[in-house]
Amino acid sequence: MRILVTGATGTVGRHVVDQLLTAGATVRALTRNPAAARLPGKVELVRGDLGSPTPEVFDGVERMYMLSIGDPARVTELAERAGVRRIVTLTSTVATHAHQETEQAVEKSGLEWTHVRPGMFSANLLDWAAGIKADGVVREPHGDARQAPVHEQDIAAVAATALLFDGHNGQTYSLSGPESLTKPEQAAAIGEAIGVDVRFEELSPDEWRARSGVPDLVADFMLDLWQRATVRPEPVLACVEDVLGRPARTVTEWAAGHVGAFR
Ligand SMILES: NC(=O)c1ccc[n+]([C@@H]2O[C@H](COP(=O)([O-])OP(=O)(O)OC[C@H]3O[C@@H](n4cnc5c(N)ncnc54)[C@H](OP(=O)(O)O)[C@@H]3O)[C@@H](O)[C@H]2O)c1
Repeated sequence: MRILVTGATGTVGRHVVDQLLTAGATVRALTRNPAAARLPGKVELVRGDLGSPTPEVFDGVERMYMLSIGDPARVTELAERAGVRRIVTLTSTVATHAHQETEQAVEKSGLEWTHVRPGMFSANLLDWAAGIKADGVVREPHGDARQAPVHEQDIAAVAATALLFDGHNGQTYSLSGPESLTKPEQAAAIGEAIGVDVRFEELSPDEWRARSGVPDLVADFMLDLWQRATVRPEPVLACVEDVLGRPARTVTEWAAGHVGAFR
């Protein structure tokens, strides 16, 4: 079975590729720049842009992992025409316009579909790596925001399961990690994995905006998300365990796989 993986060079997509290869699938990976892709040799690399997709990309493909990029109606139409029978989308628990468009395009098609909607990726905690390396301190606003980071390999495992196996058609899987943690708790969970006492220092939103250099649009989005998570903690959701039959991985387990980034 040939499966097209879009976003194959991304945080989740790389793990989707690995897990599909391990299961014996034929993987075609779409990238704008094959020379920089650094994907396993077995992968069929295809150059393409989801902003201007071409029909050849979908030739011989039966199933597809689809990111919310470009024109999802056009991507879905070309895929269906080429004989793709199943699409698994990667969207988000935070429904942006792009994610909604993608989910709607797939639902309107005649194809089997599954939506994988993660919350905050554990991989976002790599943003803390420089501070932790420098002096063991994480500096951010809204320390009492509770989030439930989900391991990118767990997200990929749910997507790979829905791509490979039946029984997931028409399902929307909202994913979280196994614990809803404040930022000091997340920092301590990383500290536990790397054997360093990691502290959290509260910044005001304006201090963080000035120090982080994050573009205004992204900073606004993050500050709003964190502020809301102080009032309404992100819930722990059961989908990873329901689909995979094992618990979701903790922040400490995630950090244990990234010790080199933090120490
Ligand atoms: N970070 C979070 O906490 C979080 C939480 C929930 C949902 N999400 C969602 O996750 C998605 C991102 O997934 P990710 O983190 O695995 O990816 P990522 O690491 O952000 O990488 C982006 C991927 O998209 C590909 N790409 C970008 N523009 C493209 C285009 N025009 N045509 C074709 N491919 C293109 C890139 O491929 P090439 O560069 O190789 O072309 C790359 O593989 C986003 O939709 C985001 O909203 C993120």
